This record gives sequence, C-alpha cells and structure tokens, in this order.
Amino acid sequence: MSEKDNHIYVIFGASGDLTKRKLVPALYSLFVQGLLPPEFALLGVSRSLFTDDAFRAAMKAAILEFKEIDDTARIDEFVSKIFYTPVQFDEASSYQAFKQRLEQLREEVNIGGNTLFYLSTPPSLYGIIPGHLASVGLNSQDDGWKRVIIEKPFGYDLESAIALKDSLLHDWAEEQLFRIDHYLGKETVQNLLVTRFANGIFEPLWNRNYIHHVEITSAESIGVEKRGGYYETSGALRDMVQNHLLQVMAFTAMESPSSLEPMAIRNEILKVFQSLRPIRPEDVKTQAIRGQYLASHIKKEPIAGYREEEGVNAESLTETYAAIKFYIDNWRWGGVPFYIRTGKRLPTRVTEVVIHFKSTPHFLFKQDSAHNSPNQLVIRIQPDEGILLKFGMKTPGAGFEVQTVNMDFHYSDLSNQRIPSAYERLIYDSMKGDATLFARTEEVIEAWKFLSPVIEAWKNDKDIPLYGYPAGSWGHDTADELVEGAEMTWRYPCKNLSDDGIYCEL
Ligand code: BG6
Repeated sequence: MSEKDNHIYVIFGASGDLTKRKLVPALYSLFVQGLLPPEFALLGVSRSLFTDDAFRAAMKAAILEFKEIDDTARIDEFVSKIFYTPVQFDEASSYQAFKQRLEQLREEVNIGGNTLFYLSTPPSLYGIIPGHLASVGLNSQDDGWKRVIIEKPFGYDLESAIALKDSLLHDWAEEQLFRIDHYLGKETVQNLLVTRFANGIFEPLWNRNYIHHVEITSAESIGVEKRGGYYETSGALRDMVQNHLLQVMAFTAMESPSSLEPMAIRNEILKVFQSLRPIRPEDVKTQAIRGQYLASHIKKEPIAGYREEEGVNAESLTETYAAIKFYIDNWRWGGVPFYIRTGKRLPTRVTEVVIHFKSTPHFLFKQDSAHNSPNQLVIRIQPDEGILLKFGMKTPGAGFEVQTVNMDFHYSDLSNQRIPSAYERLIYDSMKGDATLFARTEEVIEAWKFLSPVIEAWKNDKDIPLYGYPAGSWGHDTADELVEGAEMTWRYPCKNLSDDGIYCEL
C-alpha cells in the first residue's frame, strides 16, 4: 500500500468543535509538510446547511485561530480542496444523496474510491452512521479502501461497548476501523517504547525486582468548562482512565514486541489488558477513590464547584477525580502495585508516568542523610515533555550527607524539532492504514471489563464516599492512603499553585 494513496477525507460532524480546533488545523499542517497525497479532498458533513464557500471560510478562520504550524501562506490553496454537503445523520434516505455527492466529487477532483470517514459526532451516532454508510454500499472496498475513524468514548460501559462492537463489526472489518485515542498520538507516549526498548540500561530494572510501584498521574487545572452535559454522562473514570491512561499503562507495562508491525505491538498491549487482576466488588472501597471539586479560590479568583457548572445537576454524584490501585498478574509485574490518578481542577496540568524504584537494601548513610526518597524515573508526557531521573548524591563537605538531585532531558532542548500534535500523527497514520497507535476492539472491551466493578460499585453502593476537594487542590487526602509502603506517596510535582498555575518542576 502506498503511503500516499489519493483519497477523499470525509468528516461527519464538520461544524463541531473538534473539526475546527484539531482536525482541520492538523490536516493543513500535513499539507504544508507535503504529507498529504498528491490528490486529496476534504468533504465536510453535518446537519447544517452551508455552501462550499461558507464552509471554506469557516475552516480558513479555524486554521488561523488554532494554528498547528506557523506557515500560513498556503491556506487558500488548501481550502480550495475543501467541500461541504449536509446529511441528516439518522435518516436512511439522506445517505443515498450523500453517496451521489461523494461520487460526483470523485469525478470532479479525479480521485478513485479510497475514502476515510471520520466520525467527529456525538457517540450516540457511532453505530448509526457506519450502519447507514454500509447500507448504501460505502463499506465496500471493491473500488478502493474505506476506513472509519471513531472518537472515544467507545461505549458507556461493558454492555454498550459490546453492542457497539457487534454493530460495527457487522458491516465493517476490524482492519477498516480506527479507534482514536489521542494519547497514543502524543510523541512522549510513543517515546515510552523508545526509552524502554532502545536503551539497554532500563529494561533489566523494569520489573518486580527493582520497581516498588508505578504511578500514572494526569492532572488538569481546568474544570469541565462548557462540557458539563457530556461530563455528567462520563466522569473521570470513563473520560480519562478507561481509555487514555490505561493505554499509557499498557505502553509502560508491555513486553518487548517482536517487531514494530502493528499486530506485534497490539498483541503485547492486549496481553497486558488480559493480565489485569480483576478488582473484586468488595475491594472497590479500598482500591478506588473518587472525588468532586468544590467551589474555592484560585489566586484569589472565585472558582465554581462542579455542581455549579453549566449543564451539571445540582446534586450530581459524577466524579471529577479518580484514583485506582491495581495489579498486573504476570511474571514481570507480580505484586507490583500500579496507580492511576486523574482529576479536573487540580493545581496544575501535568501528565507523567513515574517509576518508583525500591530503596537500597541497606541505608548506609542514614544518620546524616537528608535523602531518604528512593530513585524515581519520571516520564513527563505533558507539558514540558521530557525525562527525569532522581538520584542521591553526596552533598559537598564533611560527612556523608546525601541529597536528591535530578538528571533531566527536555524535548524543548532539541532545537528545530517540532513536536507534531497527536491528531496530526494519528490522521497521518490512518491515511497510511497504519493502526499501531489506534485501540483495537479487544483492548477496549478488556478495559471496560476491568473497570466494570468500579463503575458498578460507584453507581450502586451509596456507602462509597464521593470526597469533595477544593478546586485547585490535589484532591482528597484519602488518595494518599492508597499508596502502599512506608513513606511511599504519589509524586507531587508541585504542592502549591505555581504563579501561572500551569507549570511546576519536572
Ligand atoms: C479528553 C477528555 O479525551 O482528553 C477531556 O475528554 C480531557 O476531558 C482531555 O480534558 C485531555 O487531553 P489532553 O491532551 O489535554 O491531556
């Protein structure tokens, strides 16, 4: 398969936020870098009525507003490849007209049958649109490849995920389906594989013999903003853990794949999911903590609590914070606790994987030591992408005082190296048909299966507390008790709000 197959890129939900903030700016960036095929057209589809010209103008404005790349000289050339057609998503009759429009466009721009359908729509349409496309034959690959890209969430729980899987696989082959998890498009998440498998020094230590526990933290300083309506149906566990953070966990925990072939990598990821020790319903209370942000002040500004946000029920029990502890039952990880923590309205925005190594077997320097924290390897996914190793060093002078120092690498030190956005990378891969960085059906189902006991218990067991935490704090202290081991705790990259509220120590 050529890397540059000419094709038509169809976006369903073209008048939505994602299209203008991420998808079209990413496509423009690929265009400027010469990474789009020689013949390419973008067909926007939504319920609204737009002319091609009106849609082009809106996309031009979006590219300028949500810039991915500094070079804007070729915007007009790019937008001339954009077209628009309305479709009533749930009306079968609308798809015949859509098919005709697509065929007419193919002739106009002289592009064969290769077509990519990107569903940037409400999740309720994920089963419906592909079904209608198939009913008019647009799943057929006789005249060229057809692919469907679906955004998360893939289902709402195990049952709905299985129903969605069955409905999609009824008409489409697994190879035609690309489930986007934008975390896998992040350069630093992919770098996890390189750090582990391109260096000889880490992998011998990457196991239960040397690692005390593994932490994955993804903190956000923003609240739910204007997405209260969606978030009420989701919560932190479904929004971040079920997909992004379990995928990051799998990259951290997987065995070395036999090659870089998509199947080889995805098989190793799937094995990790299959080795997750199920959380027993009676253990949910002690292995999972949930919280919700309360009204507070950040830098003297009043901040609304979650229940006061637009679209949120005034008595909502939706969690905006989730922390879980779990185990991977295999030879590498037997007995090593893994922790995932995520929340909105925390003190800063940071996502990192922290490998907490075991302490030395004997504290030789303990009398004089100010350093009693074991080594940590911090893989910072965002912001300030990089890697940090924390280790003990002698404080100059008399005695043997030990202090913790950092050895660090920041991506920003690589001059002239632009980090492409996650969407840019994933869109490019989907055009090439490379599914390595997309979630496979079985992974998604396994992830739901794993979280089901927590979802169920949080829904049904009214005795499980929903802890309130002031906006701008690290959540409720109870989450600290999850972490096993004397003096072991989550890493707090900044305990207090930094002045700009965005960045703290790597
Ligand atoms: C999305 C979630 O998938 O990821 C959002 O729905 C969250 O709630 C976002 O804010 C985080 O993505 P990023 O790339 O900003 O870490």
